[in-house]
Amino acid sequence: MKKIIMSTGGGDAPGLNAVIYSVVHSCYRRGWEVYGSRNGYAGFLDIEDLVQLTPKNVDGIYSIGGTILGSTNKGNPFSYPLKNLADEIQVIDISDKIISNFNRMKFDCHIAIGGDGSLAIAHRFAQKGMPVIGVPKTIDNDLGKTSRTFGFDTAVSTATDALDKLHSTAKSHNRVMVVEVMGRDSGWIALYSGISGGADVILVPEIPFDINAVCDKILDNELHDKHYAIVVVAEGAITSDGQTFNKGEGELGREEVILGGVGDWVADQIRKKTEKDTRSLVLGHLQRGGSPTTFDRLLGLRFGAAAVRMVEEKIFDHMVALKDSGMAAVPIEEAIAMRKKIDLSSDKMVTARDIGICFGDVQPE
Ligand code: F6P
Repeated sequence: MKKIIMSTGGGDAPGLNAVIYSVVHSCYRRGWEVYGSRNGYAGFLDIEDLVQLTPKNVDGIYSIGGTILGSTNKGNPFSYPLKNLADEIQVIDISDKIISNFNRMKFDCHIAIGGDGSLAIAHRFAQKGMPVIGVPKTIDNDLGKTSRTFGFDTAVSTATDALDKLHSTAKSHNRVMVVEVMGRDSGWIALYSGISGGADVILVPEIPFDINAVCDKILDNELHDKHYAIVVVAEGAITSDGQTFNKGEGELGREEVILGGVGDWVADQIRKKTEKDTRSLVLGHLQRGGSPTTFDRLLGLRFGAAAVRMVEEKIFDHMVALKDSGMAAVPIEEAIAMRKKIDLSSDKMVTARDIGICFGDVQPE
């Protein structure tokens, strides 16, 4: 008999509920108890935020977007913002309290479902002695040591669907449509949706872009009697002279800058340099919403069941990963060591270049 606590941290991703469903059912079949911590680590601190999960209360959730447990990207227990008596915000380390509550409630393992930020926190808890297992979640697909994270396929599908819809309006008005997609410092969403959605230009953080090369592609379209264009820009794209785009340090308790603004900038430049009627839009959180695709649902269910098998085998401080189309256990430390970037020599990149997609770099003739 084991007692498991599960949490979902960071930005939500379609497929989280499929993981929760799978963990709960796999535990129940073994006669184990499983609890969920609401909003990241809140359930480790307050009993009100701890919920016992049973097959009954996760009935049917595998197909629903978001997370029934709630999530936050502002709740790092190692630097937790709290108001003191003078109403001032103090950043404190509450990790020892979380460890002692975990031990006092006699949990055997913490299953942490999260991206690189949440898994870095989980790894620090593992170093402090908590048995931890990670499950790789993020629409950005930027975690190392796993060929996929769940949530990515759904985000790509949503972005591709948006590009399909933009084609008809761009064509009707002879316009350039610039679409900013998520992905942080990796261009996975932009690359996959851009190729599948018929983009003329894809700008990714891995390839600093020259705006003149982008405009040349649009003007070249005109010469070939194509009077509209679709430009997909990853939110983390940077110019060849090093310009980056973000909305600043952001919010209290949040460690990363909030990216955004590159789509508008690119659209402005295109308008000025080509005199083409140009519009821009930010797909934003639409990419995180909705039901998971079959792929993400299945991956989430497989990850959840594999995580429970890892508890059984006591493979702690490891993350479940998709490797060679099977489940593998990889050290969390290795998975978070470096953000996974798109491989510039991959078949997808070669395909994109072969079908004439411009990446804003100047290619040799
Ligand atoms: O990491 C997932 C992600 O959706 C990124 O693609 C994006 O930059 C960020 O989260 C947005 O975060 P928030 O939901 O806090 O605005």
